[in-house]
Amino acid sequence: MRQLIAGNWKMNGRIEGSTALAAAIRDTSLGLDCDLLICPPTTLLMPLAAMLKNSAVMLGGQDCHAMARGAHTGEVSAAMLHDAGASWVILGHSERRADQYESDAVVHAKVLGAKAAGLIPIVCVGETEAQRLAGAARDVVEAQLRASLPRHFSGVVAYEPIWAIGTGRTPTASDVADMHAHIRATLISHLGDSGNVMRILYGGSVKPSNALELLAVENVGGALVGGASLDAADFVTIAKASHAVAATATAS
Ligand code: PGA
Repeated sequence: MRQLIAGNWKMNGRIEGSTALAAAIRDTSLGLDCDLLICPPTTLLMPLAAMLKNSAVMLGGQDCHAMARGAHTGEVSAAMLHDAGASWVILGHSERRADQYESDAVVHAKVLGAKAAGLIPIVCVGETEAQRLAGAARDVVEAQLRASLPRHFSGVVAYEPIWAIGTGRTPTASDVADMHAHIRATLISHLGDSGNVMRILYGGSVKPSNALELLAVENVGGALVGGASLDAADFVTIAKASHAVAATATAS
């Protein structure tokens, strides 16, 4: 399956500047053998959707409420994201788990809400540095997956070690291989056959200099990119690394 290169803009981007960034990504990524997704702040979905219409670059939200509508001041439902032009949504990002106290149960409910609105969820999991040092990383990630994903889950999983997000530090390729194999086994055990083919993204300080190595790891189905997705040249260089990995896979 094609890899997915997803940009998480987080709380960055005003109208001015963002359309130029999205246009540069659209125009310099033409023909690449990977799926491309931008997840901008909600306020940018509509203008970017108009701009990216008929292009290969897809749009996603960074979160949604579990319910379709109701008295939830300040919240945005999955259907509203869909109306605004999103076809994907990131759920359970570690910044939301930490800043908004989102539990696995909340993420699970949001996955159902996203599904009902026709959005494809990207569910994020990952351990803290203390958990990794204590040798608990695999157990933590497995528990998050089992509690966050409904049994009939379809979508994408992103493994994002919390200590690698925005720090410039990454796990070694062999640590990524190890964790992604464990996630693969957990998905198969939890979901059945569909777990065999589900894309598992790696996220956490992916940049042009390490993208090729990380994307070539077995069971890595793409990348969730934060900081480097705010620079069109960096983001497209990461997408080109994915294209190169696809070309190698076809040749072998
Ligand atoms: P980063 O963020 O690439 O800036 O480390 C990744 C993420 O939080 O999704």
